[in-house]
Amino acid sequence: MKKLEITDGIHMLTMNVEDILFEGMWDIANGVTLNSYIVQGEKIAIIDGVIGWDGIPETLYKNLEEIGVEPQNIDYLIVNHMEPDHSGWISNFRKIKDDFTIICTDKAAKMVASFYGEDKIRIVKEGDTLDLGKGKVLSFHPVPNVHWPDTMYTYERDTKTLFSCDMFGTFGRMGDHYFDDELTPEEIDFFESEGIRYYSNIMATFTGNLRKAIEKAKALEVNIIAPGHGPVYRKNPQKIIDDYSRYSLYAEGVGKNEITILWGSMYGMTAKAVDFVEGILQREGIKYNKLEMPLESESEMVAAVFRSAGVIIAAPTYEYKLFPPVAAALNELGRKRIIGKLAFRFGSYGWSGGAERELNEIVERNRMNWDFLESVEFEGAPKEEDLKKVEARVLELIQKMKEKVVE
Ligand SMILES: Cc1cc2nc3c(=O)[nH]c(=O)nc-3n(C[C@H](O)[C@H](O)[C@H](O)COP(=O)(O)O)c2cc1C
Ligand SMILES: [Fe+2]
Ligand SMILES: [Fe+2]
Repeated sequence: MKKLEITDGIHMLTMNVEDILFEGMWDIANGVTLNSYIVQGEKIAIIDGVIGWDGIPETLYKNLEEIGVEPQNIDYLIVNHMEPDHSGWISNFRKIKDDFTIICTDKAAKMVASFYGEDKIRIVKEGDTLDLGKGKVLSFHPVPNVHWPDTMYTYERDTKTLFSCDMFGTFGRMGDHYFDDELTPEEIDFFESEGIRYYSNIMATFTGNLRKAIEKAKALEVNIIAPGHGPVYRKNPQKIIDDYSRYSLYAEGVGKNEITILWGSMYGMTAKAVDFVEGILQREGIKYNKLEMPLESESEMVAAVFRSAGVIIAAPTYEYKLFPPVAAALNELGRKRIIGKLAFRFGSYGWSGGAERELNEIVERNRMNWDFLESVEFEGAPKEEDLKKVEARVLELIQKMKEKVVE
């Protein structure tokens, strides 16, 4: 765990977490950080918690003492969001101190009670404030459904610091750099990629609510954005606000100038046409991602399709339907509300087909509103004329996706 001074009277405790399935399902290859913040006036508040993840309250003592905070003097636990990656430490803290007040929204209060049996709770609403003394005044601003119903921002008026919890967060471990102005160009690229992974995996379902949260952040005068995951933005907080605005557009059909091929094949017939398409994309100088289902991680699959302006689905018919691993991937994209993508599908069949019907059903059922070029289906191995059709459609996709590129 690292301890850093963010600004006068505000510290961050942060730790990298590796080898977990985030939310019990996302196999995040590059880890994630959990950030907690301590605001010191005459009274002391902790915002979101990472401490005690090892279950040992003494770790908390040690870390707090090293930044000059007596655990016994902590008055307030501010729970911006009740998800246990931020609040799971409350019961550990209870072991070393008994008389603190939890501050959260009404929706979080119900969960803090049902998950941890806590009852000393002060419920806050939009604009409520908490004066900690020595000029430190916190105000509270609910941002519901980012990505839980209970979520709020906490804002410190003196330093104009926005504690945004999951909003403006990213996956990806932090090395030696914790602030936007310290990041190397490679680290900036890394957090662009991990930010997209985080948004697409965790937030995409709630894009409408995130837009409202973006507006709420813009309405506050913000010098520093201090999220629950990832770097702190103190030089240019506007950058992460703009990045999130751009990601919200990726959820609705635009993307980077790249194509994702989402494919699967049992005996290599569809795969022959995938190889052929790769050759075309290379020849045309188009950046592409090739993701074979079910081998690819779900986290990467969702992130790659999300950020791409063009999508190619390559999958055969299996038991009268779409090859199941690809069908499952499409359903996941639908659940994540990744809508409006420009796409093209091809695939092999042996008997009477059926993949195409299920593809349409999935897209309809999930109201994905994807813009599909005419599919190409071929019996058995792709023949010369099938490949010609595939090539024509791929070139059409490359043309049409130009209108969809936002970087
Ligand atoms: C388990 C299994 C189920 C299949 N179900 C169908 C089907 O319902 N309808 C059909 O037209 N072909 C069906 N086929 C035939 C495949 O679609 C055909 O072999 C195709 O060439 C497979 O392409 P691939 O090698 O890219 O997987 C099935 C094949 C397998 C192995
Ligand atoms: Fe969360
Ligand atoms: Fe979180």
